[in-house]
Amino acid sequence: MRSQVVIVGAGPAGLLLGQLLGRAGIDTLILERRSAAYVKERIRAGVLEQGTVDVLEHAGVAQRLHADGLIHDGVEIGFQGARHRIALKELTGKGVTVYGQTEVTRDLMDARASAGAPVVYEAEDVTLSDIGGSPRVTFRHGGKTHEVDCDFIAGCDGYHGVSRKSVPPDAITAFERQYDFGWLGVLADFAPLWDELIYATSERGFALASMRSETRVRCYIQCPLEDSVDDWSEAEFWAEFGERIGGDIAARIPQVPALEMSIAPLRSFVAEPLRFGKLFLAGDAAHIVPPTGAKGLNLAVSDVFYLYEGLRDFYRSRSDLALVEYSARCLKRIWRAERFSWWMTRQLHAFPGEGFDERMQRTEIEYLLESQAAQKAFAENYVGLPL
Ligand code: APR
Ligand code: PHB
Repeated sequence: MRSQVVIVGAGPAGLLLGQLLGRAGIDTLILERRSAAYVKERIRAGVLEQGTVDVLEHAGVAQRLHADGLIHDGVEIGFQGARHRIALKELTGKGVTVYGQTEVTRDLMDARASAGAPVVYEAEDVTLSDIGGSPRVTFRHGGKTHEVDCDFIAGCDGYHGVSRKSVPPDAITAFERQYDFGWLGVLADFAPLWDELIYATSERGFALASMRSETRVRCYIQCPLEDSVDDWSEAEFWAEFGERIGGDIAARIPQVPALEMSIAPLRSFVAEPLRFGKLFLAGDAAHIVPPTGAKGLNLAVSDVFYLYEGLRDFYRSRSDLALVEYSARCLKRIWRAERFSWWMTRQLHAFPGEGFDERMQRTEIEYLLESQAAQKAFAENYVGLPL
């Protein structure tokens, strides 16, 4: 078998890259470890920057997003029992679009199916070889071993994928920060009791009130890393969420069963560089942000857009300028999003037992809520720095 570009991973990064390259006449083969049903059902975040929407439009997959996405011109910070609005649109000229990553994935899967482009789901033992010369990818599927020769490999296989691990350890540097708490999230069908997202900080810990549509909410609370979902009943979740969000929301939460409940750890991680010969890393394979800034998907999209431009120029005019610059171009944007996500995480979560740091946190939030300049800097990052 042969393909111009082999893409490992059918998450949003891999699927979007395949879609952009396909429209530029470049053929791709996507290899995905999981089943199509699994990929489709995975629940992830749901806030899109304008730059992300622009790329999805460019890829021809924004019709449903424009019909169903909710435009939010502001975001709220909950602090000491009160809610304070940050007017994103007034401050930056831009808002954000609330549209689930699950929906983005579906739109991309549908587009790939209509283009008739190949995805091998349940591909086992994907192995990369000769990434510095004539790259080849082998995998097992349906009881047989397959071999694919290609010009380039795109490692879009997430944090636990094989691509980053295929790089010689002395060629890559990892930067990491772990947090000793997680997010317990619940998805439920009721009309949001809030107009915009609320990021709330309290002595009991962080809580986030988000949504997926006018009839579906997504809410989170900071929880101990050791907790498992079984430690929490839905009633306990909503009681704790209500306490942290404050106001009259607690009393108005309807008793409906959760559609999903899960715990995710928080991590900041960057691997440098993003290119090794013919292998390019993109998305979660190269970096992880804690979800507090809603940057994960948006960063994956900017990596993929830069890689698409590089590969398009290479096949069009044999210019490898954009491929040479790929890693540095991505890393500049990645580190800024890492900074903002780390900062939001640091300021809004409870870190017990740190007296001086606790005063600093309080001072940071008070300053944010009182200073127009601080709000503008916050808003500029939240709506997304330019691609
Ligand atoms: N072989 C083939 N596929 C693999 C392998 C492997 N060895 N390992 C992982 N995969 C697949 C996973 O099953 C997954 O479908 O790669 C895909 C990676 O997708 P994501 O984890 O969604 O990563 P990415 O596409 O970079 O999307 C980034 O997703 O997790 C969020 O915060 C993240 O929002 C961001 C977005
Ligand atoms: C979500 O809706 O899942 C969500 C929204 C904003 C975040 C993180 C997650 O910062």
